[in-house]
Amino acid sequence: LAEYEELAKSVLDKPAYDYYRSGANDELTLSENLQAYKRIQLYPRVLVDVEKRDLTTTIFGQELSMPIMIAPTAFHKMACPLGEIATAQAAEANETLMVLSSLSTTSPEEVAASTKGPLWFQLYIYKDRNLTKNVVERVEELGYKALCITVDAPLLGRRERDVRNRFSLPDGLRIATVGDYLEKSMAENSRNSSLNVYFASLLDQSVTWKDIEWIRSISKLPIIVKGIHRPDDAIKAIEHGIDGIVVSNHGARQLDTVPATIDLLPSISNAVNGKLEIFLDGGIRRGTDVIKAIALGARAVLIGRPILWGLAVDGGNGASAVLRLIKDETDLAMALCGISKISEANKDLIGYKNA
Ligand code: GLV
Repeated sequence: LAEYEELAKSVLDKPAYDYYRSGANDELTLSENLQAYKRIQLYPRVLVDVEKRDLTTTIFGQELSMPIMIAPTAFHKMACPLGEIATAQAAEANETLMVLSSLSTTSPEEVAASTKGPLWFQLYIYKDRNLTKNVVERVEELGYKALCITVDAPLLGRRERDVRNRFSLPDGLRIATVGDYLEKSMAENSRNSSLNVYFASLLDQSVTWKDIEWIRSISKLPIIVKGIHRPDDAIKAIEHGIDGIVVSNHGARQLDTVPATIDLLPSISNAVNGKLEIFLDGGIRRGTDVIKAIALGARAVLIGRPILWGLAVDGGNGASAVLRLIKDETDLAMALCGISKISEANKDLIGYKNA
């Protein structure tokens, strides 16, 4: 997948590439998310019948062809003209699920109309609770299968390239979900990324677990809380009747110097003890990474940036090729690990380098 990033870099406008690739501040977590997988080693079993291999998984009753889903990422039309529709089609072609971002450049209506595949919706809680409620009702009505509430972004992290570029959406693109406005003047006036200005003005910095309870009370959909870093917060999610969590550091774009998500997973998985579904994103670039995440307690992983690189290189076909690549790598890694079902990946496959 790394080669897709190289190719994408050569075709994307610099501000778009910078926006997609950036992490917060010194980008220490950005590199940790990748490095952490290199410290984890696999201990394969041999002489196991792996002739038939099963990568399928079931999530909230939905069968997927693999435990790899598309993470919510913003502004797909910066990567290719069809934007989020191309992504949804790639998800459908690979029988997996796409989480549509609140910062989508295509409306939830158009995305829903473009695919028969399952969609989740990534939600922010806005200062305007009527607006929030409208979005929730709108996506539920449209058949989105779950709400994935991002909880690690009361304000947007500081991505220094975006500040320097005074990042804003290219002419002709808009946030098609909520808020619409992301204007060049916001960036020029505040000498910041316009997205930071948007977040500070529209999103509610006072959100607590009570607001998650409120969302629970207004929607029948499964609720997944994205951005959990700690076992005690995972336990709070269980106590509040949440259906799933994403162990996520927002692709290292929020608080810099937090650990790699894969390093947070074992203690969170221990604390949760099967009481809700655990997903993980951040740094998954190889099939072996997928095996490691499942072995350490994730039900499935989500990939973000590689999908954007695929879109930039070849639209929906590129995103689809990225999904196929990582699926094939996962299948091969399973065979070589001596497991025939992805659910058989467990901790005794795992060791830590220099531990
Ligand atoms: C938005 O959520 C971003 O990370 O830019």
